[in-house]
Amino acid sequence: MLNFNYSIPTKIFFGNGQIKVLGKEIKKYGTKVLLVYGGESIKKNGVYDEVIDQLKGEDIPFWELNGVKPNPRIDSVREGIKICRENKIDFLLPVGGGSIIDCAKTIGAGYYYDGDPWDLVIGKGKIEKVLPIGTVSTIAATGSEMDNYAVISNLETNQKLGLFHDNMFPKFSILDPVYTFTVSQRQTAAGTADIMSHIFEVYFSRTEGAYLQDRMAEAILKTCIKYGIVAVKEPKNYEARANLMWSSSLAINGLLSYGKESMWSVHPIQHELSAYYDITHGIGLAILTPYWMEYVLNDETVDKFAEYGINVWDIDKENDKYGIARGAIEKTREYFISLGLPSTLREVGIGEENLENMAKKATDYQGGTIGSFVPLNYEDTLEIYRRAL
Ligand code: NZQ
Ligand code: ZN
Repeated sequence: MLNFNYSIPTKIFFGNGQIKVLGKEIKKYGTKVLLVYGGESIKKNGVYDEVIDQLKGEDIPFWELNGVKPNPRIDSVREGIKICRENKIDFLLPVGGGSIIDCAKTIGAGYYYDGDPWDLVIGKGKIEKVLPIGTVSTIAATGSEMDNYAVISNLETNQKLGLFHDNMFPKFSILDPVYTFTVSQRQTAAGTADIMSHIFEVYFSRTEGAYLQDRMAEAILKTCIKYGIVAVKEPKNYEARANLMWSSSLAINGLLSYGKESMWSVHPIQHELSAYYDITHGIGLAILTPYWMEYVLNDETVDKFAEYGINVWDIDKENDKYGIARGAIEKTREYFISLGLPSTLREVGIGEENLENMAKKATDYQGGTIGSFVPLNYEDTLEIYRRAL
């Protein structure tokens, strides 16, 4: 296990009815609020009204930025910064999924930056300060409610890139599983695949001896496998929604990655699919993951895949290790299909036209090599895209 400094500063209010703390929590950090949200979902399911009741109940003045899209655009960030500066807003309240939270985080960072906020996304500008943020999460997926990371898109330039800063951790997040009852089957499945992918990104690492982190990772993977399918079939199953929601946060908040070398692999490859085709993040991950696993399976990695097969999929440990590893990869693929997710790029309208551009950008952004479990260069990345077609 490697050395690490533990810090997960986000306060979590988990469970049904926790919205009751919202107004008082906000008052600890700010006086004027920008409420950030996406389309109609929070109005249809009543979450918007509950949030407004809290703001009004505590006499907190607020402004709204709505219409933030999945794969949030830099334009929304610019708009949010403008509203904040014009009205001297000092607190950001994203209500929604990862896209909404990421948009708010970047507004918070851009507020204190003199130039265009896109500079912060591409690393041309430096994040110094960030407006305080509190989130009301409405979907189990990215874990943005408990991490310091955001991903922003610029569809004009076909770019989708991440930024992070410790001041981007939300001060608090309200996680009410009931708020996720209305998430569609497709988004529930995509969210489950995303959570699982966050775990894979750190579980498949070369660091040895992080036994505890790996067993915790397997427990959360098993939780996703058990409850993802339940939530897809029974959207109002509280137990399933609750377990997925907490998995979402724990998968990415550092608990599983502390003490491990873990440069992510599939996410950088996926981000190009969304940058070029605006596809749902978790769907891209579900398609690519089994192909990535097959591609990186070799004599050096087979033991880790066998461990995954035995501990997560309960494959008989008496089988030969390559058999176990291949069986585990196949079970991963079958599981995503059972959630109703596509398994090839063509199913989501992606053909050969941009594979080379995407492979080039994905590797260039990572300095020429993606990931550390099995470092992937341009040719490797292109080959994974080709196999996934
Ligand atoms: O637009 P609205 O009305 O909000 O509808 C959304 C959207 O259409 C809908 N939805 C959310 N909650 C709902 C609901 N519909 C009904 N009932 C509810 N309770 O779901 C759709 C997708 O929303 P989005 O916010 O895009 O989903 P998600 O949470 O999966 O976020 C995806 C974004 O996060 C980034 C992804 O790249 C993508 O841009 N990621 C952020 C990360 C982070 N900050 O740590 C890490 C991830 O790996 C990921 O890259
Ligand atoms: Zn993700």
